[in-house]
Amino acid sequence: MNVQDLQSVAQAMVTKGKGILAADESSPTIKKRFDGIDTESTEENRRTYREMLFTADEAWKYVSGVILFDETIRQSTSEGVPFVKYLADRGMIPGIKVDKGAKALAGFPGEKVTEGLDGLRERLQSYYELGARFAKWRAVITIGDGIPSSFCLDANAHALARYAALCQEANIVPIVEPEVLMDGPHTLERCEEVTGQALSLVFSQLNAHRVVLEGMVLKPNMVISGTEAGKRAGVEEVAQATVRCLREHVPAAVPGIAFLSGGQTAEEATGHLNAMNKLGSHPWELTFSYGRALQAPALSAWHGDGKNYDAGQQAFLKRAKLNGLARTGRYDSSMESEAA
Ligand code: 13P
Repeated sequence: MNVQDLQSVAQAMVTKGKGILAADESSPTIKKRFDGIDTESTEENRRTYREMLFTADEAWKYVSGVILFDETIRQSTSEGVPFVKYLADRGMIPGIKVDKGAKALAGFPGEKVTEGLDGLRERLQSYYELGARFAKWRAVITIGDGIPSSFCLDANAHALARYAALCQEANIVPIVEPEVLMDGPHTLERCEEVTGQALSLVFSQLNAHRVVLEGMVLKPNMVISGTEAGKRAGVEEVAQATVRCLREHVPAAVPGIAFLSGGQTAEEATGHLNAMNKLGSHPWELTFSYGRALQAPALSAWHGDGKNYDAGQQAFLKRAKLNGLARTGRYDSSMESEAA
């Protein structure tokens, strides 16, 4: 393990003005996204779509790194340049999703645990050789009647820490992602309580596994009301509760926190990030690692049709740029109508 390399990659991932593009949808997930735009999920369509995002003009100004899926890390641009090289040449660090998905946790109805530890050491080595310098593992925590159980929180924290330790051994920066889902009628307070529990267990396991906090990036959910909550908390409340929760549970040694969007609309995700950065300064960088909130407008502008390729790129760039501004609290919702 080279701690200095890990630290400098982690810092570059959360550098000011930029954030991470999560483009690591598994085959079933990208099929779901393509179904939404009546586009067949063929390997070539997936490649074309990812090329559209990665080659958008000046994306590198706002994108510090890109999380790839196993298929994508082996693909190339239409001109034959491997995606990994294309991205790295422009300062966008290539990353790789290494978990094998959240599966039902036996004996705990409604709860999940993420799989993928078997053979992970060897897979990390080959991903490093392919050019990946960071990785992602997502744990999924569901809020419901009587859940999450402490067993489920423990099992997921333990797996995240084992994954993180293996990543650092391979000189790969781990993105540690404990996602508390926003599905359900729960309140913001309940989300804050569960997020706090999850983070506290994750950091105690990371410490127990001797993970170097300076060489990782945390990818949490924001503290937000459930999607079916009667009254949903506003932007300021979300920003305050999220920062409060993170300050209580995330050590200052962690260089950066890169949020997932989790089903928020693109504008919500940008507005929340902006409001949190306005509350700074913070002990860590606060940035984005969005999937849907960066891609949804681009997907619908593109619609699987070559003649909309430029429109897809523009829609993606607009989100990247506005989130880049939200990184330092300089976004305003009036920019939604102005930006390209
Ligand atoms: P969303 O921003 O769509 O939640 O995706 C981010 C991600 O990488 C989830 O693992």
